[in-house]
Amino acid sequence: MALSAGITVKYLGHATFLFTTADGKRVLIDPWVEHNPACPVQDRNLPGLDLMLITHAHPDHMQDAVALARRFQPDVVCNFEISIWLGSKGVGKVTSMNKGGTARIGNIGVTMVNAFHSSGIIEGDRVIYGGEAAGYVVEFGNGYRVYHAGDTCVFGDMRLIGELYRPDLVLLPIGDLFTMDPLQAAHACRLLDARKVIPMHYGTFPLLTGTPEKLKELTRDLQVEVIALRPGESLS
Ligand code: NI
Ligand code: MN
Repeated sequence: MALSAGITVKYLGHATFLFTTADGKRVLIDPWVEHNPACPVQDRNLPGLDLMLITHAHPDHMQDAVALARRFQPDVVCNFEISIWLGSKGVGKVTSMNKGGTARIGNIGVTMVNAFHSSGIIEGDRVIYGGEAAGYVVEFGNGYRVYHAGDTCVFGDMRLIGELYRPDLVLLPIGDLFTMDPLQAAHACRLLDARKVIPMHYGTFPLLTGTPEKLKELTRDLQVEVIALRPGESLS
């Protein structure tokens, strides 16, 4: 199935995706790899990393951020509060930003957009304020745009994200309990006028009960293609 000239996306399970661009740059959204039970063992050892985006501070989105940053020294993009915390762990090359802004890393544009969720940093038995949870619109050098919604409920301003950025590919949580369920995700597809959607954040734990089949059923009236990737599977 064609994604776009030269861009490959690999689903590493849960909310973690690895993009590889035509010029060989590797972009990871939500660094939960080594500790991610949904990530196939053979995919846990990344071949390299140029850019890492963090939607929010929960362990199932950034537990491996520090280790991966130390190993590969990628550019890191996250909110201000997480950037201070990463800095305290010795992580360099961090671009701190907030919602509405666009960071340019080489020929990749990263726009931080809204998400409705929490974002505490868990350190031992403490919860440190981690700023607000976010989503990202990533524009690759060839103009291809991906919207990763992060962890969120559906919200009416997803329509704005659709109108402003016209994402070619949308990554939406469907697991329920901590995020949208398939009913809300189907409406998100409607608001975004999505063409291609990859469901995420389901099945990792028994509590995350939403399924791609349910999303397909609830989007039958729309023009959207629901692409259910298994962890370890790629689209190129
Ligand atoms: Ni979360
Ligand atoms: Mn999560």
